[in-house]
Amino acid sequence: MNILGIETSCDETAAAVVADGRDICSNVVVSQIAEHRLYGGVVPEIASRRHVEQLSAVLGIALEDAKMTLDDIDAVAVTTAPGLIGALLAGVSFAKGLSYAAKKPLIPVHHLRGHIASLYLTDRTFEPPFIALVASGGHSHIVEAKGYRDFAVLGRSVDDAAGEAFDKVARALGLGYPGGPEIAKLAETGSPERYTLPNPETDRPLDVSFSGLKTAVINIINQARMKEEELIKEDLAAAFEARAVEMLAVRLVDTAKKMRLPAAMCGGVAVNRALRERVKTLAEKSGIPTIFADPALCGDNAAMIAAAGYLEYLSGNLAALSLNAFAMRDIEIG
Ligand code: KG4
Ligand code: ZN
Repeated sequence: MNILGIETSCDETAAAVVADGRDICSNVVVSQIAEHRLYGGVVPEIASRRHVEQLSAVLGIALEDAKMTLDDIDAVAVTTAPGLIGALLAGVSFAKGLSYAAKKPLIPVHHLRGHIASLYLTDRTFEPPFIALVASGGHSHIVEAKGYRDFAVLGRSVDDAAGEAFDKVARALGLGYPGGPEIAKLAETGSPERYTLPNPETDRPLDVSFSGLKTAVINIINQARMKEEELIKEDLAAAFEARAVEMLAVRLVDTAKKMRLPAAMCGGVAVNRALRERVKTLAEKSGIPTIFADPALCGDNAAMIAAAGYLEYLSGNLAALSLNAFAMRDIEIG
């Protein structure tokens, strides 16, 4: 069964074809990053407009790459939540038109279920149950995947998401957007010992708080400026990355160990090399198997939406043409 996926929840316009939820036939992602970089972050209005402009062409390339026409497509899956509402609506409206005109079933997909489905594309034999860290620009969730469509969020950020913290700290350090790769690159040349950063506490042990960590970094930058002391940016980047990595890695592996389940990672932040290495080390010590989403599938893409759409389809979750988009929505609801 061939599912066409459409993803427009943030600043990537994406379309992909996936066969039987596991095999990628095509995966086209047009990133708007170059344009948003000029503003230091994603400008929602610009993102929506670019999706509207690009979607038809992106669909055309996705079909061409898959050597298919719309006749070969069995259903259309689209990200409905969560995300930037205007951006989501662009994709949902497009998918509805396509579904109606081509007479194909329409499947609603939760974006985080999509990130989790990237694991099924990374390893075609991988299956629930497992514990996943879904870390992206908008989320830092510890999710128990009990089944393909049965989730429980065990922990989340109480303020900034992991990727958001990387982006904000990068901005404070005068680095470019997106901040994750910039911080990671700078941190490679630094040492984390020079600056001491807090380990912010939360009421619930599996929740995280990145806002406090980000503020501590900004305070160090401001103090250095006021005292006219030299700021060793690479050391501060290394200290921030090490702390952020530790906060996430420990929660993921501890939970997986306690529940005797594999530890999985997906989402844009999951490409971070220090995070992968730390999770691997901790998991090996605890005898926990790990799986990390293919780096090419960590960032937003439509293959993961098509893969998740297949699972929704199998359980009969189809949408009517009155389908709406939602800026916020829990993964449990879907
Ligand atoms: O999943 P994604 O592409 O989009 C969202 O759904 O948000 O994630 C983007 C986020 C950005 O905040 C970016 O800074 C972060 O992932 N990111 C990284 C790295 N590469 C991207 N964070 C840490 N280390 C990286 N190497
Ligand atoms: Zn995402």
